[in-house]
Amino acid sequence: MATCISLSWLLHLLVFGAAMLPFTHGNQLYSNFRVKAVNLGGWLVTEGWIKPSLFDAIPNKDFLDGAGLHFKSVTTKKYLCAESGGGTIIVANRTTASGWETFSLWRIDETTFRFRVFNKQFVGLDGIKVVALVNISTDSETFHIIRKSNDSDRVRIKTSNGFFLQAKTEELVTADVSEVNGWGDDDPTVFLLTISKRMQGEFQVTNGYGPHKAPQVMKEHWSTFIVEDDFEFIVKSNLNAVRIPVGWWIASEPAPPPPYVGGSLQALDNAFSWAQKYGVKIIIDLHAAPGSQNGFEHSSSRDGSQEWGKTDDNIQQTVRVIDFLTARYAKSSSLYAVELINEPRAPGVTLERLSKYYKAGYEAVRKYSPTAYVVLSNRLGPSQPRELFPLASGLMGSVIDVHYYNLFSDVFDNMTVQHNIDFVRVNRSLALSHITSSNGPLTFVGEWVAEWQVKNATKEDYQRFAKAQLEVYGRATFGWAYWTLKNVNKHWSLEWMIKSGYIMP
Ligand SMILES: *[C@@H]1O[C@H](CO)[C@@H](O)[C@H](O)[C@H]1NC(C)=O
Ligand SMILES: *[C@@H]1O[C@H](CO)[C@@H](O)[C@H](O)[C@H]1NC(C)=O
Ligand SMILES: *[C@@H]1O[C@H](CO)[C@@H](O)[C@H](O)[C@H]1NC(C)=O
Ligand SMILES: *[C@@H]1O[C@H](CO)[C@@H](O)[C@H](O)[C@H]1NC(C)=O
Ligand SMILES: *[C@@H]1O[C@H](CO)[C@@H](O)[C@H](O)[C@H]1NC(C)=O
Ligand SMILES: *[C@@H]1O[C@H](CO)[C@@H](O)[C@H](O)[C@H]1NC(C)=O
Repeated sequence: MATCISLSWLLHLLVFGAAMLPFTHGNQLYSNFRVKAVNLGGWLVTEGWIKPSLFDAIPNKDFLDGAGLHFKSVTTKKYLCAESGGGTIIVANRTTASGWETFSLWRIDETTFRFRVFNKQFVGLDGIKVVALVNISTDSETFHIIRKSNDSDRVRIKTSNGFFLQAKTEELVTADVSEVNGWGDDDPTVFLLTISKRMQGEFQVTNGYGPHKAPQVMKEHWSTFIVEDDFEFIVKSNLNAVRIPVGWWIASEPAPPPPYVGGSLQALDNAFSWAQKYGVKIIIDLHAAPGSQNGFEHSSSRDGSQEWGKTDDNIQQTVRVIDFLTARYAKSSSLYAVELINEPRAPGVTLERLSKYYKAGYEAVRKYSPTAYVVLSNRLGPSQPRELFPLASGLMGSVIDVHYYNLFSDVFDNMTVQHNIDFVRVNRSLALSHITSSNGPLTFVGEWVAEWQVKNATKEDYQRFAKAQLEVYGRATFGWAYWTLKNVNKHWSLEWMIKSGYIMP
């Protein structure tokens, strides 16, 4: 046993030795070892599109938190609208629906909801008038949505005391009808429903199943989605690390605040023991910070709002999560890096607030580990690629994380196979060298994927695209990580891409 341990330790020192030395000035010293990693996305922080089946059994699954609803009155033939985006009355006089006409759900249970409007007020009542004046969710009115049985897009909205909303006129919406009959086009209590937005993240899945079912569903997901065999596959595929997205509630075990449920920490513990066994490095990635740092479902936003970083308390709470995680895993030789927050988004997250957090988060990691790299994610949204340099150059062992997708922008709309490959070889390459410097932070392409907007590309096209990215991102001084290991969309699944011969890491 002892021989075994010292042998593996020696091996470990040989392979990872450079990276495990204490830091001195200049990160270049450590650039021989690079991570070739895969993200374990959708595991400890759910994203519905990775595993849609997780959402299938949720009762009334059209009405999850953050769903954006439009209601068109059958009598005025116009949409309900929070006048001025909120802060005053609800009207029924809009011919098209977008922001002010969107009512975001807060799900209380499978049939009861609050409605949040554009400026974040909740819909409530002022006498019989329907208004959007209430700022505090707990004080706001709750509603039922009643769908016609054979035509679920025809709905009525009922208040908690049993009155139906009606579009009395285009400029007056009231809650004062107690008896209804049929679903006629002359009935001002009838509305046509369209769902303009759906969110499927951790908040939606746990709150969707509710306190009785969510614990069991999530435990099942955690223990089956990623298992020990996956770590064996990762090593055999010539990868050496995993980036594991986690949510802030992992630090509140065993009973995180509702709707979150306990058990993700046990899953992360399992990952560390498998990582140890197979010699895989772990990058812990705080993917969902309290309040949501980008408003996307993958940061567990409830309704698309982005509140992270706005108060010192919120930043301190986030630092405590980093403190907790580093304290727990610092002694494991598998802990390679801690990423303080994933994809904070500008302008909602300012550089000043983010820098304050990054300094405090860095100190929290260094309290327990002199060697773990500390990964700083660049901001999404309008921001400068080198904006973290002044901060990072003072933080030994820091890494800048950038995410490169040939997606999510109309820049890629009409690109051919060759355009995409040239874009990687020329533009991404330039962007990466712009943030790579001999004395600055290391660089990490922490998310990329061999998927694009090209239609009907051949296997060979995908192979060339993947190869170009591997070559260019291989120059990142910290390394890269594919998004993601498992996904119902085959090109997003590195497991599928490797098994099918599309990618050879
Ligand atoms: C609700 O919030 C808005 C914007 O922050 C503020 O102007 C308003 O006074 C608040 N209203 C109440 C009733 O607190
Ligand atoms: C729903 O049922 C009504 C009456 O039973 C019928 O007139 C109508 O066409 C049905 N609508 C749909 C969408 O099937
Ligand atoms: C809708 O009604 C409100 C309230 O009377 C009014 O201020 C607004 O201009 C109207 N909007 C349209 C598009 O008619
Ligand atoms: C892509 O091509 C379509 C069809 O030719 C065109 O309508 C669209 O504007 C183009 N998009 C961009 C971003 O160039
Ligand atoms: C990529 O870089 C080339 C060369 O600098 C430039 O001409 C081109 O506009 C860039 N492409 C995009 C989509 O930004
Ligand atoms: C891609 O293939 C599908 C099915 O074979 C076909 O319907 C579609 O027109 C093709 N699209 C393009 C852009 O060639």
